[in-house]
Amino acid sequence: MSLAISISTAAYIVAALLFILSLAGLSKHETARRGVVYGIVGMAIALVATVWLAASAAWGTTSGTIGLTLLAAAVVVGAIIGLWRARVVEMTGMPELIALLHSFVGLAAVLVGWNGHLHDSGLTGALADIHHAEVFIGVFIGGVTFTGSIVAFLKLSARMASKPLVLPGKNFLNLGALVVFVALTVWYVITPSLALLIAVTAVALLLGWHLVASIGGGDMPVVVSMLNSYSGWAAAAAGFLLNNDLLIVTGALVGSSGAYLSYIMCKAMNRSFLSVIAGGFGIEAPKGDDADHGEHREIDVESAAEMLASASSVVITPGYGMAVAQAQYPVAELTHRLREKGVDVRFGIHPVAGRLPGHMNVLLAEAKVPYDVVLEMDEINDDLASTDVVLVIGANDTVNPAAAEDPGSPIAGMPVLRVWEAQNVIVFKRSMASGYAGVQNPLFFRENAQMLFGDAKERVEDILRVL
Ligand code: TAP
Repeated sequence: MSLAISISTAAYIVAALLFILSLAGLSKHETARRGVVYGIVGMAIALVATVWLAASAAWGTTSGTIGLTLLAAAVVVGAIIGLWRARVVEMTGMPELIALLHSFVGLAAVLVGWNGHLHDSGLTGALADIHHAEVFIGVFIGGVTFTGSIVAFLKLSARMASKPLVLPGKNFLNLGALVVFVALTVWYVITPSLALLIAVTAVALLLGWHLVASIGGGDMPVVVSMLNSYSGWAAAAAGFLLNNDLLIVTGALVGSSGAYLSYIMCKAMNRSFLSVIAGGFGIEAPKGDDADHGEHREIDVESAAEMLASASSVVITPGYGMAVAQAQYPVAELTHRLREKGVDVRFGIHPVAGRLPGHMNVLLAEAKVPYDVVLEMDEINDDLASTDVVLVIGANDTVNPAAAEDPGSPIAGMPVLRVWEAQNVIVFKRSMASGYAGVQNPLFFRENAQMLFGDAKERVEDILRVL
């Protein structure tokens, strides 16, 4: 048995190092593939070592055999579902899937905590107090992560409205839940009872639900990365209870890198980090947008093709709709054709265009659009005023002038691509519907903007035919 522990401890150290190398690799395009391989190898080593450790401890006893059989069955069922989901998931469905997976981590932490309460740890004195605090904190973080991730999943998959829920006194509700949690923790450490555990589980589940429901669609990218961070801390808490060093290290890596990513995203979107993690603290109910924006104008395929052919500079700003329509291939073909005609074609990529960081870059790379014409928002924004034609392909929130011009807008302050400064703007979308944040876009009613309605892929193919 002690040999098994030494070998698995060594395997855990190797796995933890591979996870760190994986994170380092994932931070750059060029090394991302290597980072993924390190992660896979690390996880395989961790899994084999954990199963082996459990098997060597349980071997020969009846309860051990039952436990191992259950473990094997769970791993097989989990692996089948995981492989199936990963194969069928669309790129646009990734954030939902990630949110759902975070909810499992949260649920696991709650179950591990409950198990920690129901099983006599055999500890006494200060060690027992620490154990009880671990149970309580693990259940709390797990509960918040569980329901928070479910709400994120529902919002991202449009099964729930993306508008922020604004309950009266919502900040006090969140603050109150935290105060209740601290008070219950102290009480539980003194007298660990099942009733208190049930109470903290309920508080955590409600708080998780409320925190994420209070956050508007525009801030969802940050929320997903923040839940990623919470799921890391939930795993670390479970690691303390299970006495598993690797889980503690991995949880801390996920927790801290997720928190840092959330911070970077908040800075990129000009949002207050603290306000987002506190469930939209300080964000008031958005005003209904019933302003009269006037009439929009439409353009047909022939005129759009003509405008492009006679332009000398074109900028394409893709968004979620390009991903839905899978329009990246005809868009790449259009880029190629126009460049052949001597038109300067470039892309402007907003940091949160689509539904996950880097979404547009991956699609354009897949369609073999040259890297050097794909620019970040900050690199292209100043050139938009001197651009002849901007093609907005399935993008909406990321090109909304209200973010820059209307302080009352729910997306006020968020940096956007200033496409309205160009000579002409053609907007490819199917209707006048709003984007993910649920906010009307005044761009569509500007003098220099025209709508080209229909599926983005079909419309770009139509233009290619005319060209
Ligand atoms: P959105 O604002 O969501 O707008 C996408 C537009 O595409 C919609 O207005 C829709 O209009 C159009 N569309 C959908 N299917 C189409 C099709 N087949 N053909 C043509 N148009 C189609 O997208 P965005 O500008 O990329 O902004 C991203 C939004 O998602 C932001 O609010 C962002 O905060 C949020 N978000 C981002 C992430 C990350 S990290 N990137 C994660 C979660 C959420 P119609 O319905 O009229 O066609």
